[in-house]
Amino acid sequence: MALLALLLLAAGGVSSEATTSFDWPYEEDVARAFASLTSASYCGADEGLMNWTCRECEDVDLRLNLSTLRFVERRELIQPNSTFVLLARVSTRTTSGCVLSFRGSTTVTNWIEDFRFWNTPVPFSWCKGCYVEAGFSSIWHSVKDEVQLKLGQMGCVPVNQRASVSSTSNLYITGHSLGAAVGTIAMCSLEASGYNVGLSYLFESPRVGNTPFTEAFDHEFARRIPMYRITHSRDPVPHLPPRYLTGFRYAHVNYEVFYDENGVWHFCTQEEDRNCSDRYSLPQTLRYTSDHCASPLAASGSLCHCPLHRHSSTILV
Ligand SMILES: *[C@@H]1O[C@H](CO)[C@@H](O)[C@H](O)[C@H]1NC(C)=O
Ligand SMILES: *[C@@H]1O[C@H](CO)[C@@H](O)[C@H](O)[C@H]1NC(C)=O
Ligand SMILES: *[C@@H]1O[C@H](CO)[C@@H](O)[C@H](O)[C@H]1NC(C)=O
Ligand SMILES: *[C@@H]1O[C@H](CO)[C@@H](O)[C@H](O)[C@H]1NC(C)=O
Repeated sequence: MALLALLLLAAGGVSSEATTSFDWPYEEDVARAFASLTSASYCGADEGLMNWTCRECEDVDLRLNLSTLRFVERRELIQPNSTFVLLARVSTRTTSGCVLSFRGSTTVTNWIEDFRFWNTPVPFSWCKGCYVEAGFSSIWHSVKDEVQLKLGQMGCVPVNQRASVSSTSNLYITGHSLGAAVGTIAMCSLEASGYNVGLSYLFESPRVGNTPFTEAFDHEFARRIPMYRITHSRDPVPHLPPRYLTGFRYAHVNYEVFYDENGVWHFCTQEEDRNCSDRYSLPQTLRYTSDHCASPLAASGSLCHCPLHRHSSTILV
């Protein structure tokens, strides 16, 4: 496991390009709220997150009900159980739902170094001809039942099971790194189970599946809900698995919002887009693993920090 000292970025000077004419314009303040929810998945279940105030959520009027907070834990390699999915009821002025935040991996830099880790595609029955990376799929299957059970306890149920006025079927999904990849699969799986998946922000995701998968995903989600896959500078992870591995073609899902090294964002409509992270090739990114956690959208400068410990300066990647 690699230990990286990460210098916290000062999150200054963020400006944006002219807004796109897209149905769901990218809203950076909403992305900041989701960045906070994503970092919260790096907190432990007993760390007092109930006392947390997500200021970035309040800024966009996204109200978190922390008394509903639930965690799904998972063992990862040699680690004891730790939080993998954080769930909470949220509401806005007009609607309510549950947010699911998937934590990244503490071993992702090992994967970057070990190309053999990648390239075990398995069929994904959600769509015809679809394959997804085996590791992401098996992680989702290992937590799916518990996630659905906890959603139910929070009053978030499939549309056909809504019995009371306080129940809802709306889900908002976020996650970082491995968590973004598992979150991508979870979106499909939960939508197929009868939930309404809306408003999803996935950060620094690797490629999840093959072209039939990304096409089906884009058809299902990309034009219907605000779904953003956010990337940053020379982070190598969005370049993995490599697009062409022994004849298998991995691709990304839409739509990418890329933050360049100056913190300026670019919205891209192609799954693999030279205006976004594909301006770099994989070899050009390999030395920049610190760009994986660093984000101009994170209040602490890093997506990999529990927001309760904003002052910590080293992290495990
Ligand atoms: C956090 O909240 C709990 C009750 O939910 C309380 O007992 C505890 O003192 C609080 N901790 C801090 C640091 O405020
Ligand atoms: C938060 O959730 C608790 C537990 O489900 C519920 O009793 C309470 O009314 C909720 N608070 C708000 C403001 O919705
Ligand atoms: C780890 O989590 C699993 C699944 O939630 C649980 O069955 C197991 O008892 C936990 N192990 C420890 C050591 O907490
Ligand atoms: C990249 O951005 C420029 C300017 O915004 C645009 O004209 C061009 O079509 C974009 N390229 C791709 C591949 O989308």
